[in-house]
Amino acid sequence: MTANKNELKITKPDDWHLHIRDTEIMKAVLPATYRWASRAIIMPNLEPPILTGANARSYASRIKESIEAGVEFEPLLTLYLTQDTLADEVLASYNQGLIKAVKLYPAGATTNSHNGVTDIQKVYPVLAAMSDAAIPLLIHGEVTDPQIDIFDREAVFIEQILEPLRRELPDLRIVMEHVTTKEATSYVLNESENLGATITPHHLVVNRNVMLSGGINPHYYCLPILKRESHRLALIDAATKGDKRFFLGTDSAPHLDGAKIDVCGCAGVFNAPFAMEILAQLFDNLGALDNLEGFVSLHGADFYKLPRNKEKLTLFKSDIMLEMPKTLHTKQGNITLFDPLMPVYWQIMK
Ligand code: NCD
Ligand code: ZN
Repeated sequence: MTANKNELKITKPDDWHLHIRDTEIMKAVLPATYRWASRAIIMPNLEPPILTGANARSYASRIKESIEAGVEFEPLLTLYLTQDTLADEVLASYNQGLIKAVKLYPAGATTNSHNGVTDIQKVYPVLAAMSDAAIPLLIHGEVTDPQIDIFDREAVFIEQILEPLRRELPDLRIVMEHVTTKEATSYVLNESENLGATITPHHLVVNRNVMLSGGINPHYYCLPILKRESHRLALIDAATKGDKRFFLGTDSAPHLDGAKIDVCGCAGVFNAPFAMEILAQLFDNLGALDNLEGFVSLHGADFYKLPRNKEKLTLFKSDIMLEMPKTLHTKQGNITLFDPLMPVYWQIMK
């Protein structure tokens, strides 16, 4: 990394948690990511989901066909774990290089998760095989029990599901995806290096007030749901202190405006377009620019035991505030971009 007050040259970042959907929407949203990232872990919650190595192979080729000629971008595919996933399918897909990880959605926890896991005990044999083969398990860490308050679902998941799983399979490499609470960051900090966590830009820059006060704002509705300010501060601490277990996963999750603004609006924030500029500004505001590269470019690659990127990305701080468009127009309709509600001066050097 080289830095002066107004310019920062870092290893090109990766996004360790990304939804790009498929077909026309995928074509429209992909450039927002490959403008600043070399690789991204692609979430498998399509409809139908990515269940097999063959599904992953054909999704990867659709993604690659959607990337402009000359652009270097590597999609890293994942399998969607169900009650019926076979260990052999996971091992074969991984060994053939078709996937880099397996995603566990508790059934009903979030968008397109109804095929997910209802009884974690039943998938322990698959998880044990993954542990032996050092295949990372990516977890959406929220319980789905309707009795549990939505703001407590992550903390309860840690107690009821994650802690017993860690005790049973201590060598399993786990990423707690999109952590949102101080319970999660302190749990990760107290565990071994086999447990990492991604953090999203939106959970770092806004709290639940932006969604619920002064009128309800569905564009800030995502899962796990935004939490109170004290949790945001814990996330900031985890992301900016240089700890290797925390890395960027944007969880950029585009939905058409019609699906967001509905009687049963979808969860998901579309933050890929300016994720890097927003993070640079946030780290700068906190006097933590020295730790930006670790969070966005190094810790994730190290956790996944993948080579760090050779390419660089240069950011500079302009005198003029960055103007972010509000909307991405696609052939299927409009998608609203994440608004960080703070002035951003950092930009990506072309
Ligand atoms: C994601 C989606 O829309 O696919 N939504 C979200 O709010 N984050 C699913 C997920 O990661 O929970
Ligand atoms: Zn997600």
